[in-house]
Amino acid sequence: MKNRLNGDIAEINAALEKYMSHGENPQKKIYEAMEYSLFAGGKRLRPVLMLETAKMAGGETETVMPFACAMEMIHTYSLIHDDLPAMDNDDLRRGMPTSHKKFGEAMAILAGDALLNKAFEIVSSVETAEPARTLRAVSMLAASSGTEGMIGGQVVDMESEGREIELPELEYLHLLKTGAIIRSSCTIGVLLAGGTEQEVTAADEFAKNLGVAFQIRDDILDCTGAEEELGKPIGSDKTSGKSTYVSMLGLERSEDLVKEYSEKAAAALGIFGERAEFLKWLTGYLVNRRS
Ligand code: IPE
Ligand code: IPE
Ligand code: MG
Ligand code: MG
Ligand code: MG
Repeated sequence: MKNRLNGDIAEINAALEKYMSHGENPQKKIYEAMEYSLFAGGKRLRPVLMLETAKMAGGETETVMPFACAMEMIHTYSLIHDDLPAMDNDDLRRGMPTSHKKFGEAMAILAGDALLNKAFEIVSSVETAEPARTLRAVSMLAASSGTEGMIGGQVVDMESEGREIELPELEYLHLLKTGAIIRSSCTIGVLLAGGTEQEVTAADEFAKNLGVAFQIRDDILDCTGAEEELGKPIGSDKTSGKSTYVSMLGLERSEDLVKEYSEKAAAALGIFGERAEFLKWLTGYLVNRRS
């Protein structure tokens, strides 16, 4: 299973390299900044989910790869902006100094913007999949990273800083800031593979639960992780006065919830039978991670 995961990651990295190829020009700094963050060694969770949900629904890697790369670019842009002084003000990401530490704030903002634009340039040039499905996938990508998705979640996250919030608000913000693009990674995968509506819905249910379990683990690691393993600072949530699952429910209850949500995630894949085996393994691998 681990070999299969590493194989997916290698394919994704090769495709990202291809999409990032560019000539020499006076604005070469922007490419340097984009590549710096993109190739800093993320887990590639979202593109892997897209490739694997597509395979589970009987699709080809080739059809979904442009969307998988676009998704990783959008995710990377969200991290570059998330780390900015105006947001979480973090100095370390993916084991390296954050974009604004390395290139300055202006270039970090531009690198994030450029990755977002590049993502939509790539998916709007896709000619391999059926046009109606491709268009729907583009719309899902945009919606899940926008105001009803990741950006919406970031807004609620920022506005919850320094004040007490209730569990439903925390669940809501996690569902959006982390859940939305994890969900669209999985639904786009199944959709582009030609899956049925029922299969798209099952993938969505899987991803919704996986997203929550994944974010609770992120909150736990922010307290208990080791910076050198995690590649980002420990205690960042506490410093910025953020409510998290851990601050609200404690470590033990948070661990229980990780288990509950990951079991729900795996159960949602029932209709795929044996073809879901890898994603079930991946769920366990991701929610029990230390980095
Ligand atoms: C970090 O995402 C932000 C969260 C939503 C928790 P990842 O943990 O997937 O970060 P990378 O891509 O591996 O760096
Ligand atoms: C950010 O959440 C998720 C994004 C949409 C970028 P966090 O602020 O918890 O992510 P980390 O802990 O910095 O990776
Ligand atoms: Mg944040
Ligand atoms: Mg952050
Ligand atoms: Mg976090």
